[in-house]
Amino acid sequence: MSQPAIKYKEIEFSDIQTLARFGCGHLKESCLLLLSIKDTRAAGSWLHATNIESATYQETLPNAITQICFSVAGLRTLGLADDALAQFSDEFLQGMDGSGNRSRRLGDINTNAPQHWVWGHQDIEQLHVLLLLYAREANLDAHKSAVLNSSFHDAFTIKHTLPTVALVPTEPFGFIDGISQPAIDWKQTQSTDTHDRDTYSNSLAPGEVVLGYNNEYGQLTARPHIDPSQDSNARLLPKAPENPLLHDFGANGSYLVIRQLEQHVTRFWNFINEQTENDSQATEQLAASMIGRHRDGTPLINASDINSSPRDFTFDNDPHGLQCPIGSHIRRSNPRSGDFPPNVGGWFRRLVKSLGFKRQHEYDDLVASSRFHRLLRRGRTYDNGLHFICLTGNIGRQFEFVQSAWSASSTFAGLKQQQDPLLGNRQARISGATTDEFTQPSTEGAARKTVGLPEFVTVRGGGYFFMPGLRAIEYLARISAPEKSHQDTEMQNNAPRTGNQNRQPG
Ligand code: HEM
Repeated sequence: MSQPAIKYKEIEFSDIQTLARFGCGHLKESCLLLLSIKDTRAAGSWLHATNIESATYQETLPNAITQICFSVAGLRTLGLADDALAQFSDEFLQGMDGSGNRSRRLGDINTNAPQHWVWGHQDIEQLHVLLLLYAREANLDAHKSAVLNSSFHDAFTIKHTLPTVALVPTEPFGFIDGISQPAIDWKQTQSTDTHDRDTYSNSLAPGEVVLGYNNEYGQLTARPHIDPSQDSNARLLPKAPENPLLHDFGANGSYLVIRQLEQHVTRFWNFINEQTENDSQATEQLAASMIGRHRDGTPLINASDINSSPRDFTFDNDPHGLQCPIGSHIRRSNPRSGDFPPNVGGWFRRLVKSLGFKRQHEYDDLVASSRFHRLLRRGRTYDNGLHFICLTGNIGRQFEFVQSAWSASSTFAGLKQQQDPLLGNRQARISGATTDEFTQPSTEGAARKTVGLPEFVTVRGGGYFFMPGLRAIEYLARISAPEKSHQDTEMQNNAPRTGNQNRQPG
């Protein structure tokens, strides 16, 4: 059943930060800085003067870029009004460590609990800004010196510099990472109607990553709007499509989730070697089963079920996880498959399925909605871990759902007593049930169970940030340093900020 084409709002790439569109793999060096604002006016002036790169396509790739995002405390310090702040999502307002309940759901307990984090625990410190600097090899120092100039130091205190290593394809356990990503449907050609979408598609509505555009429900996610009759600076912002009398602070912005995940590499390989009694082939096989891909990135799914690339496959022909275990990291993080289980045809069968009858496999309910829980990953590794970074339009429905329901939960798709084999904290449940197993179904009889998995990854810090559109950054500059940015803007004949005025040639 096809729908008439819907007129969508055209994507304003010149107002969106680069990371929402490009992974910037050519910028192999990076530096992540967590800042607090020490002088609000100076921060506003620096924001006004600093070039934050947009997502506009460049024929020549830049040598370096600067991206910026803010915590709730940062936005408040810069002067964003309470009634605008209140229109952000609850998850963002509370923060990653905002309640014991949230920490428990995310698996952030015991060794992973916020009170043990190296950074990001709001009870200990208020971080205002996450500044992300990227450069080609041997260019990072020069880029840092240019961005962290004297006016930067007047405005901010660097609270933490997160270590990173030059971008390599493999993460510290030794597996190629960054292969699968959703393909954002920037042209907005794909229908979001459930009846048109009964097979898995890797294509994702832009609103799942950037606010102000239709999401996978065909709707606009709530975000802060500002009334220009209360604050004339709001006229710097685009008009809100839902209500043209209001201006849209959230438009072209994304939520950015960051978690510093320390990887216990020796523990990981020692454990696997013990299980396989150092049989090298069995060791590789068990490790690959936990990930869902071989070290070189080849999926465990039969080659005949892989379409055009190693990203492009479903688990339709492997319903019991005989090729790729259902509990593997990639299958938990993105169970793929469409809105309906395989072999669904005709409106009557669809209706029957949608009402929850006739499940073919015990995990059908869980895979039914994978398109609503996709993440655009933008992480970078450091010497013994990963700075997991993802962009979302909805922290709760996307990141928190994947992290809590699919990864940290010890029940998933009919599996019990096991969490994500890489990420699980292995904490027993209140009932006493263990969570440290990993199951590999086998064609030759009983499933192979590995028990006693230790914790392979420990959370060292984390936070929820908002990566605003470029006009929203200019709005923040204007409200925090009114005189400075007013003067400059008048000198530029009121030219709107595009974020590209000072772009370095590539
Ligand atoms: C230290 C921690 C982690 C390591 C070592 C790790 C490693 C990997 C590797 C090797 C892959 C396969 C390559 C690829 O498809 O890109 C992968 C895929 C993926 N990971 Fe992770 N990951 C980690 C943390 C996380 C976290 C915290 C999440 C989300 C909460 C996550 C979500 C995903 C997703 C969505 C995929 C792609 C699945 C697919 O579409 O097939 N990962 N990860």
